[in-house]
Amino acid sequence: MSYLPDYIDGALAQTRTERIKELLSLRYDHPPLAYVHSFGCQQNVSDGEHLCGLLASLGFGFCPDSAGADLVLFNTCAVRENAEERVFGNIGALSHLKRARPDMIIAVCGCMTQQEAVRERLRKSYPYVDLAFGANAAHRLPELLLRLLEERRRVIDGREPGEKIVENLPVRREGKVRAWLPIMQGCDNFCTYCIVPYVRGREHSRAMPDVLREAKELIAEGYKEITLLGQNVNSYGKGLEGEVTFPRLLRELNVLPGDFWIRFMTSHPKDCTKELIDAIAECGKVCNYIHLPVQCGSDEILRRMNRRYTAAQYKELVEYARERIPGVSFSSDIMVGFPGERYEDFLQTLELVKEVRFHALYTFLYSKRGGTAAAQLPDPVPAQEKSRWFRQLLAAQEQVTRSFHEQMVGRTLRVLCEGPGKEQGMMSGRTESGVIAQFAGDEALAGQFLQVKITRALNWAVCGEMIE
Ligand code: SAH
Ligand code: SF4
Ligand code: F3S
Repeated sequence: MSYLPDYIDGALAQTRTERIKELLSLRYDHPPLAYVHSFGCQQNVSDGEHLCGLLASLGFGFCPDSAGADLVLFNTCAVRENAEERVFGNIGALSHLKRARPDMIIAVCGCMTQQEAVRERLRKSYPYVDLAFGANAAHRLPELLLRLLEERRRVIDGREPGEKIVENLPVRREGKVRAWLPIMQGCDNFCTYCIVPYVRGREHSRAMPDVLREAKELIAEGYKEITLLGQNVNSYGKGLEGEVTFPRLLRELNVLPGDFWIRFMTSHPKDCTKELIDAIAECGKVCNYIHLPVQCGSDEILRRMNRRYTAAQYKELVEYARERIPGVSFSSDIMVGFPGERYEDFLQTLELVKEVRFHALYTFLYSKRGGTAAAQLPDPVPAQEKSRWFRQLLAAQEQVTRSFHEQMVGRTLRVLCEGPGKEQGMMSGRTESGVIAQFAGDEALAGQFLQVKITRALNWAVCGEMIE
């Protein structure tokens, strides 16, 4: 595996860390505090944990919001326009803080800042942003921060998305029970609507020994759930030496000693093989739940999206999994209003959703992303019309989710307790299928697998009683 010397080279990193600490102590009369917020997907959240790990190694403490922070870092998402506008709104809201405390550092990184148009907007309209860098670049934070502190002028870095996998970065994880474990970065699929391959670069898998080592560390630290992350985990191993595949990785993780759950996301249906479904069926620690984004139920739209499967192939996979994995459940992503989508196409989506009965659905209105192939396509359907379809989809799914929760009532299920629930005296956890379960209990239960008898269904969760 390739290591990047600019972070890993011990002596260099050491000198740099000391110099940064020295400059920070000159800049602030107190130990510096950072506030880091990650937008977007779990992969980005995981990157945020590495950014926090690096900041901690540079002497930063952390605070829960931007008000008291000496360094604010937004780790951004570019997948839809409203995600980007939210970030600009958040940056805009910092202007008064920066005016009151000019020594505060405002930094933006991640998928948005990988785009030149965004960097240009930051340069021109947000002069108080001190530091910007792109995706897959957490390891460059010390180097860029040092440049900012030394030269005392803004650093807007426009490198291509980092292509190498950087191992051994420090990490400061948010949770104690569930952990993210990235197994790859980038994406090669170029779905025609999607910006991710442009901002995250090509797909690269981490070497299996590195993934297994990190999993063992997590288990030793007491984590009870490990979610393997990648834009398309099913193609894990491509480009690595030897017979490295995702089903094999699952099998190797499954035999690690300890009581823990393995989840993964995201699976692309085109690479979801029967072999993978067999592996899920045979690996007891792998949850019987698959997030399998279908996007759409119309073959013509799927073709224009470059998804490379048909609705029938998708349903066949689901059927096979239901035969092989007892109690398996599915969730999905759906996009409404792809350019040229007609109401007839949308109705096929609606039909598929009702037929497959996903227990949860993540729904999005198509958002045009500059530079993608779909951005060139005519898009005649008015936004209002698309919103009408969207509401129709939500209403249909609400019923399906509700009845899925109702079918759980009366059953006793294994729940991983994560922490306090919404109400006093209540704890919250998740079932194997990822449904939130609430039950009376105390905080000492966090991190334990419990048997919970489900007594009531809500729209967003189920409630139950812990069985001794
Ligand atoms: N790699 C994952 C998805 C990552 S993005 C996969 O292929 O399944 C998460 C979801 O955002 C996608 O599944 C899609 O539904 C949605 N999405 C991506 N680009 C979008 C766009 N331009 N407009 C609206 N939704 C989009
Ligand atoms: Fe985007 Fe498609 Fe890659 Fe998912 S698989 S990140 S939707 S290009
Ligand atoms: Fe968003 Fe980047 Fe993830 S665009 S969805 S944060 S890979």
